[in-house]
Amino acid sequence: MIEAEWWDYDSVDELADAVAGDIAFIIESALDARDSALIAIPGGSTPIPIYAKLAAAKLPWKKVIIIPTDDRLVPLDDPRSNIRAIAQILLPTGARVFPISTGIADYKMAGGAADARLQDLPWPPDLVWLGMGEDGHTASIFAGPDLQDALDAPKALRAVGVMPDPMPADAPVARVTLTRASILAAKTVTIVITGQQKRDLLEQAIADGQSSKLPIGRVLAEAEQAIDIHWCA
Ligand code: 6PG
Repeated sequence: MIEAEWWDYDSVDELADAVAGDIAFIIESALDARDSALIAIPGGSTPIPIYAKLAAAKLPWKKVIIIPTDDRLVPLDDPRSNIRAIAQILLPTGARVFPISTGIADYKMAGGAADARLQDLPWPPDLVWLGMGEDGHTASIFAGPDLQDALDAPKALRAVGVMPDPMPADAPVARVTLTRASILAAKTVTIVITGQQKRDLLEQAIADGQSSKLPIGRVLAEAEQAIDIHWCA
C-alpha cells in the first residue's frame, strides 16, 4: 500500500516556494547530520521555476552534490540535456553539479558509465525528487524493452541505460536513469507535478500499485517511505 500525501497549491509560484523550502530544509538537515548532502533532481520543464527558487536559498552550497535523476543522451549543450538546465541555474550557487551522462553513444554502455560515476558518491541520496510524464514515466523509467531492467536492477546498481518505446515526443532519445532501487533508497522521495490530467493518472497509478501498467505506479508500489506529492492545476 503506497502511503502518499498530497500538497495542493493555487499557483505554480506557491508550489515552487513550498518545494524549494522543503528541499532547502532537507539539505540543511543532511548538513547538520553529516556535513554533506546529496540530492537527485528531475529534468523537464516543471522543475525550472523551482530550481530558480532553490538557487536563491542561503546554504553552504559547496557541501551539496546535485545529480539529475536521469538524463537524455544528447550533447551537453543540447537544450534537451537535463544537466545543462540544472547547471545553468544551480552551478552558480557553488553546488557540485554532477552529470551522469558521459557522451557514450551506446545507451547500455552509457548506463554502465552513469552507474560507475554514481558509485563514487556517498549513498543513498538525501532526496530523490521525481517528475512524471503524461505517459506515466518517471525519471527515465519508461515503457519499452528496458523497463524491467530499470525496475528489477539489484540495489548495488545505481543507474541503467534505457530506450523508451514509444519514444516521448518532447525528447525522443535514449536515456540513463536511476533504477527503482536507487530511487527508493533515498531518505525522502518527493513528486512534483502540475495539471489535472497528470493528477488523475498518478492517483490511478497509486491505486493500482504493483498491477499498474505505468512505470511510476510500478516504482512507487515498492516504496517503504511515505511519498509527498506537490501539485497545482
Ligand atoms: C526527463 C525527466 C522526466 C520528467 C517528466 C516530466 O528527463 O524527461 O526527468 O521524468 O520529470 O518527463 O517532464 P515535464 O516536467 O516537462 O512535464
